[in-house]
Amino acid sequence: MKKYDYLIVGAGLFGAVFAHEATKKGKTCLVIDKRDHIGGNIYTEEVEGIQVHKYGAHIFHTSKKEIWDYVNQFTEFNHFVNSPIAVYKDELYNLPFNMNTFHQLWGVRTPAEAKAKIQEQISRMHITHPKNLEEQALALVGQDVYEKLVEGYTRKQWGRECKDLPSFIIKRLPLRYTYDNNYFKDPYQGIPKGGYTRIIKKLLEGVQVCLKTDFFANREELTAQADKILFTGMIDEFYDYCYGELEYRSLRFETEVLDMGNYQGNAVVNYTDYEVPYTRIIEHKHFEFGTQPKTVITREYPAAWEKGKEPYYPINDPKNDELFDKYERRALEEKNVLFGGRLGMYRYMDMDKVIEEALNMAETELTYEEV
Ligand code: FDA
Repeated sequence: MKKYDYLIVGAGLFGAVFAHEATKKGKTCLVIDKRDHIGGNIYTEEVEGIQVHKYGAHIFHTSKKEIWDYVNQFTEFNHFVNSPIAVYKDELYNLPFNMNTFHQLWGVRTPAEAKAKIQEQISRMHITHPKNLEEQALALVGQDVYEKLVEGYTRKQWGRECKDLPSFIIKRLPLRYTYDNNYFKDPYQGIPKGGYTRIIKKLLEGVQVCLKTDFFANREELTAQADKILFTGMIDEFYDYCYGELEYRSLRFETEVLDMGNYQGNAVVNYTDYEVPYTRIIEHKHFEFGTQPKTVITREYPAAWEKGKEPYYPINDPKNDELFDKYERRALEEKNVLFGGRLGMYRYMDMDKVIEEALNMAETELTYEEV
C-alpha cells in the first residue's frame, strides 16, 4: 500500500483547494512545491506591515455566490473595488473606459455625446473585416481610445506591434456609458484581510506539505509514494515536451519600499504609452486601505518567456492550442494522473474559476472514489 492517496504537485490555489476537499473526505495528501512558499502566484508576504502581492496585483472577484461563500470560510474580505487609473504621457484617465474617461478625452458630458464621438471615429475607419489587432481595436473603440489607452500598453504586453498581432487577442473592448470606475462587473469583490497566503494556509491545515521540492528532480520516488497524482505544473514538461514546447508570456517585477506614506494614491496605475517600459505600478497598501508610514510599490514589466522563466500567460493561439490538444488527449488516457490549474490546463483563469474547477474535480474524483 502506498503512503498517500494523492501526491499534489503545486501548492497554489488549485492544489490547495483540492487537497482541502480530499482531506475532508478522509484522503491522505502530500503537497509538494518547488518554491520556498505556499500559495503559488497568489502568494502575499508582509513588508512594512503591508501585504505585498509578490506575483502581481490580485483582486478577488466573482459572479458566483457559492464561490464567494467558499473563500469567505477561510478569511474575511475587505470592500476594495478595483478602479485603475491610466497615465498616458502627462494625461490621466479613469479605467475601464467609461463616461469619466470620455469626459477626460473630449470634454463630453452626456452618453449621447460620447457615443456620437466614438461612432464618428469608428465609421471614419471603414473597417469591416479586421485583419489584425490594431484594426480590431480601431473598429471597436475608434482612434483616440485606441491610440492613448490601448496601443502602447498592448504592444508592451505582447512585445510586438499591434499590426503584427492577431485580432482574436481582443474580442471585446467594453465601453461603459455611465460614470462608473468599477473595473469588474461581478457582484462580489474584495481583498482578503491579512493577505491571500492566509487562505492557502487554512486550506492546507492538516495536510503534509514539502516546499523546495521539484517533482522532476525526484519523479520516481515521489510517484511511488501515492496512488494518484494531481499535477498543477506545466503539462508539456510532465510529458518531457514530447510534442513540443507550449509558449507563454512572462513578467518581471521590481519592488521598492519608499519612505513616504502615499506614492500614487491608487492601488493600480497603468502606463499606456509605449515609451514607459513597465505596464503598471501597484501600490500594495491601497488594496487594504493601509495607513502605514512607509509604502511598497511594484513595477510590472512584460517579458519574453523562455525555459526557466516563470510562465505567466499561456499564448492561446491556434498553434499552441493544437499542441495543447495533443497533450490533453494523452492526459485523458491516464488512470492515475489528474491535471489542473493554469499550467496543467494551459489556460488563463481568474482565482474564482480556479476554485470552481478544483471543486468540480474534487467532486468528480472523490465521489467516483466512494462508489
Ligand atoms: P499557480 O501557478 O499559482 O500554482 C502552481 C504551483 O505549482 C506553483 O506554486 C509552482 O511553483 C508549482 N509547480 C509547478 N511545477 C512544479 C514542479 N515541477 N514541482 C513542484 N512544484 C511545481 N486572478 C484573479 O482572480 N484576480 C486577479 O486580479 C488576478 N491577477 C493576476 C495577475 C497576474 C500578473 C497573473 C499572471 C495572474 C493573475 N490572476 C488573477 C490569476 C491567478 O494568479 C491564478 O488564477 C492562480 O494563481 C492560479 O493558481 P494555480 O494553482 O492554477 O497556479
